Amino acid sequence: MTTVDLPLLPLGRGTDLNSERGVECPGDLPSASDPDLVARALAAKEALGDRVFVLGHHYQRDEVIQFADVTGDSFKLARDAAGRPDAEYIVFCGVHFMAESADILTSPDQQVILPDLAAGCSMADMARLTQVEMAWAAMTEAGVAESVVPVTYMNSSADIKAFCGRNGGVVCTSSNAEVALEWAFAQKPDAKVLFLPDQHLGRNTAVLKMGLTLDDCVVWDPHRPNGGLTPEELRDATMILWKGHCSVHGRFTAEVVDELRATIPDVQILVHPECAHEVVLKADLVGSTEFIITTIEAAPAGSSWAIGTELNLVKRLAAAHPDKRITFLDKTVCYCSTMNRIDLPHFVWAMESLVAGQVVNRIEVDPETEKWALVALERMLALPGKTHKD
Ligand code: 13P
Ligand code: SF4
Repeated sequence: MTTVDLPLLPLGRGTDLNSERGVECPGDLPSASDPDLVARALAAKEALGDRVFVLGHHYQRDEVIQFADVTGDSFKLARDAAGRPDAEYIVFCGVHFMAESADILTSPDQQVILPDLAAGCSMADMARLTQVEMAWAAMTEAGVAESVVPVTYMNSSADIKAFCGRNGGVVCTSSNAEVALEWAFAQKPDAKVLFLPDQHLGRNTAVLKMGLTLDDCVVWDPHRPNGGLTPEELRDATMILWKGHCSVHGRFTAEVVDELRATIPDVQILVHPECAHEVVLKADLVGSTEFIITTIEAAPAGSSWAIGTELNLVKRLAAAHPDKRITFLDKTVCYCSTMNRIDLPHFVWAMESLVAGQVVNRIEVDPETEKWALVALERMLALPGKTHKD
């Protein structure tokens, strides 16, 4: 079993479309071996002062997270971005869909910067707008579209969020998927939900939180004719799950949970709801990255935990809590390669460019997409405070 004190491995290429397109940095990156990188980042941050607000997702590398003004999960960061109307620049240390959401939630004169444009998300890329529109047309044909409320996970592109906004739907995150589904099912009599793009978060929330059964769920496969479903299957389903998943959380297995339970006395298994249903069923606690952090903070000294989420976060938790035994729930190293693209050289390059008056790697959503994506995001932000916890 690999524990969290693994050495860092060289990073591979991400599987997201952005990285497949080979997005290159449009400027001269400082060398990763420059011993002054930390001092340069500090100096740039100081020079920009309150004009810049740096957001860091929990999966970011330590070398970058140390410069974040706030850290958080996707939900907290979306709220935090919206809560700083005075910052001229929002530097988003996270992935593309998060920066898009920050752009949508901030005013037009605020500029959102993603230090490396290749920091995409393979899950978000699994639902393209044309595919979703084809699915919607098939649901219309089957006579079910008018009962369907589309719900998209935050981990989706802005045009998918806009699709949900236009069609009476909502965005959710792993912190509020349960309350978002409650909202969706209350929108129409006999409502069905089309859940995009993470089948696991959708299934786990429907079955473990909403009292639905696995038989109430069907999976829409965008690569098969009619999603691989008959009109009857669509009519009978309550949850139509898009066939998408997270390549990081998809690695955790029920077998490793069993192995750890056999080898670590009283170990508690704590996983993210992007994990497969059979893993979540075997876990003690399930929740977003923010929930994972607060659970470990509140845990008694001497307790043992195996955590199923991205490795940068698990390593940071292990370092911050030496009085607790923290093990990674995978046999091999498992970083999110696209999150890891935001490294110190890219951060320094983006910040120093701002100091020089040059905005690089701006993320800007077009006005029509922004208008409807904002509708879906604001519906999420207006949901009551109950969050997906355990
Ligand atoms: P949360 O930030 O909602 O915990 O999701 C984790 C994740 O996969 C972000 O890409
Ligand atoms: Fe996407 Fe998974 Fe990476 Fe999150 S952890 S950015 S869902 S690939």
